[in-house]
Amino acid sequence: MQLKRLGIMQRLLRKVPVYLKCLNKNKQKIGVRFISSSIPEDRVIFSGIQPTGVPHIGNYLGAIKYWVSLQQEPGKIFYSIVDLHSITIPRSDIPEHTLLSWAIGCVVPVNRLKILPQWQERMKQSKDGGHIGTFTYPVLQSADILLYKATHIPVGEDQLIHINLTNELAQVMNRRLLKPFFPRVHSISTSTSTRIRNLRDPSVKMSKSAYSEQTRIELTDSDDHIWRKIRRSVTDCTSEIAYDPENRPGVSNLIEIHCGFSNLTPDEVCADAKGLDTGQYKRVVADAVITVLAPLRQRFHRLRNDEGHLKSVLKNGADRAREVAVANWECVRRLLGLCA
Ligand code: TYM
Repeated sequence: MQLKRLGIMQRLLRKVPVYLKCLNKNKQKIGVRFISSSIPEDRVIFSGIQPTGVPHIGNYLGAIKYWVSLQQEPGKIFYSIVDLHSITIPRSDIPEHTLLSWAIGCVVPVNRLKILPQWQERMKQSKDGGHIGTFTYPVLQSADILLYKATHIPVGEDQLIHINLTNELAQVMNRRLLKPFFPRVHSISTSTSTRIRNLRDPSVKMSKSAYSEQTRIELTDSDDHIWRKIRRSVTDCTSEIAYDPENRPGVSNLIEIHCGFSNLTPDEVCADAKGLDTGQYKRVVADAVITVLAPLRQRFHRLRNDEGHLKSVLKNGADRAREVAVANWECVRRLLGLCA
């Protein structure tokens, strides 16, 4: 009887989405995150990663880790190497991404894109006013998602603004198409590990493009490199291990990394670390990271040496994605009245 009730509860939970309001440092709402405890059977998952540089533990904890576990759950899945940004392959294998991006670009006000933080950041650094591709990149990202009518997007916190934009653009397009063609999009992940910070400057996120490799742990780093980077990471003068991202960002970042690699909560991690100082705790964090990354690194090198297999996985994936992309683009084209 108890078990039967539990079964009903689980079925109900699957249908009731759970949301978390996401706030930035200044307590402003930057998005709404869907927590993965409820699973609609018909969900469509899309996510992507830029091909430049070596993925780091921010990419892993914010996105890649979920990409793997989501494969065990119901729903269609599309993961993409978003290469049109760096002009290589294989998102470019499916030209419908750029076709839909053009159609969406025709309904986006320039001023809406101008206020996006990544563009503002680029503008500060740019001497020539910035490039059109960089300016319209969020439209291409929205097209990536909408092309597959995706409903759930596993991403880190830095992408929430783009997911919100995608929802806005989906609505504008639906009005243009005179029907609710594109579904609502939700971001998914857990509440910690969604913004891993730079090891040398915890006020900014860990990034592939940061000036030094010492600021990030790359997924191919050796055990010794991982230990040395964590040992030299910036913390503060207090030796106690406590989770306080606002006032103690360095040690809190280590706790989030530890949680991400051990599936423990910050409270559990802090209770286990009682009596340790930050120097001793860094060894514990490094061990947790190495335990997960060492076998992953071996597997990476094995796969990397099998170019034929990798190419066949990419081709197979592109063939399956193309079927959905072509069918959806054809519908949009017809609804826009672009057919002969
Ligand atoms: P990219 O390549 O910068 O990052 C890939 C994924 O890693 C996450 N991430 C992080 N998570 C936590 N902490 C960090 N320090 C950190 N750094 C990166 C990102 O949130 C992302 O989930 N524009 C996207 C790629 C993209 C995409 C899409 C994603 C293109 N089209 C459609 C989802 C859906 C990007 O540049 O990700």
